[in-house]
Amino acid sequence: MALFQSSTKEIPAAASVPRHIAIIMDGNGRWAKKRFLPRVAGHKQGLETVREIVKACSELGVGYLTLFAFSSENWRRPEEEVSFLMGLFLGALQREVEKLDRNGIRLRLIGRRDRFSTEIKEMIEKAEADTAGNTGLTLTIAADYGGRWDVLNATQAMLKARPELANGTFCEDDLAPYLSMHYAPEPDLFIRTGGEARISNFLLWQLAYTELYFTDMFWPDFDRNALNTAIASYRARERRFGRTSEQLQSPAGGNGKC
Ligand code: IPE
Ligand code: IPE
Ligand code: MG
Repeated sequence: MALFQSSTKEIPAAASVPRHIAIIMDGNGRWAKKRFLPRVAGHKQGLETVREIVKACSELGVGYLTLFAFSSENWRRPEEEVSFLMGLFLGALQREVEKLDRNGIRLRLIGRRDRFSTEIKEMIEKAEADTAGNTGLTLTIAADYGGRWDVLNATQAMLKARPELANGTFCEDDLAPYLSMHYAPEPDLFIRTGGEARISNFLLWQLAYTELYFTDMFWPDFDRNALNTAIASYRARERRFGRTSEQLQSPAGGNGKC
């Protein structure tokens, strides 16, 4: 039995505060350019926004916040920018985790780990272990993450653990425990800052029925008020999960079968 409902199999419980918010933090470079600063200054400022949004979500009672920090494709950026981002990541792991822990926040990392330095890998493991018992907000950082990688990796892991499924007789419930976000409900609300209206290989599987919200605001300018505006937009939507509007008056069951 899966821990959380799949939006394509059952109708997830609705909540006025999203249980899970997933964010593509975009626009750092353009924020800096507008101020005649180097791109990396935007990343540094973006970390300030991360602090504010984590605090706001924690206070609002959001259960899960997932932030896209570095995509599988971001390795293609200039070497100096990649190495600055890695430094910022390591610094944040070294300096921020204790504070997260004090605030009851559980930290998880999703994505490939094998391309990070040993130092970063060790810090990730320590941060996850130190905060594993916390019961407040679960903060997930997607780093060297790609949605396609996630689905492929899960399929490979599932077939390795359960070779009897190699004949193709598997379904969503079989795959779900191997996906990197198996511990969280699917996002209710997706936010992308920075003006682009695309998913950029983020949580492809998990966003199946997520409400999408795009804003032109650059990530370093995003704040608690902007988050509240996004949540208000989410609240005003009718989530139908394939049904008609009329059916929503009398909640029906799922379409459960594999
Ligand atoms: C998002 O900001 C941060 C990362 C992808 C690491 P960008 O660096 O993509 O900023 P823009 O989109 O170039 O403005
Ligand atoms: C998506 O932003 C990845 C992160 C925010 C980490 P990008 O700036 O890399 O996305 P594209 O390249 O504009 O699609
Ligand atoms: Mg960008």
